[in-house]
Amino acid sequence: MSAANFGDVWKHNVLLEVVNLIRKENFNYVETHGNYDNHTVTHNGSAPLGYYYLSKKYNYSLPSTLYTQINNPPTSAARYSYLSSWMQVYDLLKKSQIKSFKETIFEINQSVCTAVAPHISNHTEICYTHGNGFTGVLNLTNSPDLVFIDPFYTKAPVTEMKRVKELASKLDQKSVPYLIWYPIYRSQIRSKRIKTHLLDQFPHGARRPHRLELHDISNNKNSSHIPITGMIFSDTLSHYIQTVKTNLNYLDSSKNPCLNWSIV
Ligand SMILES: C[S@@+](CC[C@H](N)C(=O)[O-])C[C@H]1O[C@@H](n2cnc3c(N)ncnc32)[C@H](O)[C@@H]1O
Repeated sequence: MSAANFGDVWKHNVLLEVVNLIRKENFNYVETHGNYDNHTVTHNGSAPLGYYYLSKKYNYSLPSTLYTQINNPPTSAARYSYLSSWMQVYDLLKKSQIKSFKETIFEINQSVCTAVAPHISNHTEICYTHGNGFTGVLNLTNSPDLVFIDPFYTKAPVTEMKRVKELASKLDQKSVPYLIWYPIYRSQIRSKRIKTHLLDQFPHGARRPHRLELHDISNNKNSSHIPITGMIFSDTLSHYIQTVKTNLNYLDSSKNPCLNWSIV
């Protein structure tokens, strides 16, 4: 999966909006699934259908949003550097009025941890931890202000979705706000699995909204492209859904008819 793809554009836009809405002094941000601090994007695979597509559809002149301010929009098919979710959050919090904040990031892969360490040695606000994010987040001494849960859903998807649901229930019991990213694949089997084992576990309706999705309605057949991507909001965050939707309307074809994207 290439960075800056359609799923990344959605997850990082929503994440930044939510962080901006709830940030406060001593903000305590946690991510269960960290990965590298930044990625080099080449125009292969699903990358051209993400941020590059969006930038092109705005004739390389994107509206100013939290996301476009932090991530320089690509203006050509040249390689570019793209920050991880937690580095984007770091940039946002650094630029904000907050004097003090903390990020705790979990990553299970030791070689990723080793590669990241020298890049963040001066970032005293970031505690990048080798370990299992599903359990690590529950052992923290200070209660998080936001937990972002962002697995790949590839190796053992059903087990992973079960872990996501169990973690969400425990965070609900403690009223800890969280966001969960998810993909809906073109494959019927994979999309049914996500619906059954994840989405149906989070009751959703007009009176109890829990999700916001971005749909690519172009019917692009690229096999690595995910045509629907979403974010589950905890109960404690669901009242922000409408504001986030409004703030992100630049991703919707109602704002730019050239775009084949729709926020649902
Ligand atoms: C989808 S990536 C995270 C992307 C990142 N949040 C972003 O948006 O830039 C998933 C990462 O989680 C790591 N991972 C997988 N299972 C994990 C677990 N149980 N705990 C912590 N990290 C895990 C993988 O090694 C991978 O680096």
